[in-house]
Amino acid sequence: MHICMIGTGYVGLVTGTCLAEVGHSVWCVDVDGSKIERLKNGEIPIYEPGLEDMVSRNVKQGRLRFTTDLKEALDDSPFVFIAVGTPPGEDGSADLRYVLDAARQIGSAMEDYKVVVVKSTVPVGTTEKARLCVSEELGIRGRDDLDFDVAFCPEFLKEGSAIDDFMSPDRVVIGTDNQKTADLLGELFSAFSFREDRIIFMSIPSAELTKYASNSMLATRISFMNQLARFCEKIGADIDQVRHGMGSDGRIGSAFLYPGVGYGGSCFPKDVKALIHSGRSHGVPMTLLESVEEINKSQRKWFFDKILSHYGADISGKIFAVWGLSFKPNTDDIREAPALDIIPWLLEKGATVRAYDPVGQENAKAALPNTENIVYCDDNYQALENADALILLTEWLPFRRPEFDRMKDLMREHVIFDGRNQYRPDRMADLGFVYYGIGRE
Ligand code: UDX
Repeated sequence: MHICMIGTGYVGLVTGTCLAEVGHSVWCVDVDGSKIERLKNGEIPIYEPGLEDMVSRNVKQGRLRFTTDLKEALDDSPFVFIAVGTPPGEDGSADLRYVLDAARQIGSAMEDYKVVVVKSTVPVGTTEKARLCVSEELGIRGRDDLDFDVAFCPEFLKEGSAIDDFMSPDRVVIGTDNQKTADLLGELFSAFSFREDRIIFMSIPSAELTKYASNSMLATRISFMNQLARFCEKIGADIDQVRHGMGSDGRIGSAFLYPGVGYGGSCFPKDVKALIHSGRSHGVPMTLLESVEEINKSQRKWFFDKILSHYGADISGKIFAVWGLSFKPNTDDIREAPALDIIPWLLEKGATVRAYDPVGQENAKAALPNTENIVYCDDNYQALENADALILLTEWLPFRRPEFDRMKDLMREHVIFDGRNQYRPDRMADLGFVYYGIGRE
């Protein structure tokens, strides 16, 4: 089948490439000409394991093409996906400008029947607005004779494992309002679902809400665990044991119960805010999610206060090694990463930071203050040289079992603030470290 993908950001590029990988013919369109040129040359603008190889293989085999010309891409594609950004506005609402612009462009360029599939994460009602935008443009052109349908098909890709998530999804959600579109999209996605019941058809508003509800549910689990972790420290319980005990209940499950320094990334913070905003504007305040957001914000401060209280509040002149700048492992994405809050707080108090991240370093450099008080290091051991403490913020695999003796030789003081509970407190004590974790004092 022929497919046109509007937007070559994270979602559009991964979706377009995976659709090409199973044999579809895909045009990826973007307004950013330099990005399209780079993609044509096989240069990938994001770090995502496996993506670069998959893009170059499909480009070579002619199934994946890049262009800035929507008309060229639309001409032979019955399916048009909209996968552009929906950044949060100042009030937390999703900014729909790019989605609706894309819909208008489709209306002004299409010449035959299209299924317009919104893939961007959008509030309930947006797919309907996109339908109106396409219609309006057709009306302006005097081409009301052209037929089209709309659908909403959310993405559930995790950065760092997006290709696996797309190729073997837990489920594919398809929101439509008619059988013909459902059949067409069911056929398009059938290559990815080894069991047919993994494709879930529903109404468009239900599909739009399913996306926000899923991310908000996961964020709720994390904030609940973070609040429980703080409680554990007060009562002498261990959150890791509690997590294990809870997660073994099949009804609860063990995923997304890891406490830490709060969730980050491009989705959870934005989607929780957007659902809070939507609820409020429909007269149903999402009070549970307001707390989820509040706990997430205060979690980083709580962790930072732990660092301060170890030193009796004065950390000026101290040197901190920071392991991990990306918001989670296997990505160079630093959006809403804990490091972007915690490093500036350390600097404000007069400390120096020696930072290391396997792939997020360049993005972090651009986002953090430009000061000689942040030294970017070549590896995690170099970051420890003369450090008064290690602060672990992202659980990259190489940080899991480091050479502790070597670490001790390099550090001035043997203190670890572990924001991801990567080490066992009893073992750290045996090794001679002063160790602070999350909810396990
Ligand atoms: C998320 C959703 O998982 C995905 O389905 C959706 O399409 C996009 O948003 P992503 O943002 O890539 O994916 O990251 P994810 O792996 O879900 O982690 C989100 C945040 O939660 C990270 O900051 C992570 O560190 C944190 N997290 C996750 C926890 O603090 N504890 C956990 O147990 C799990």
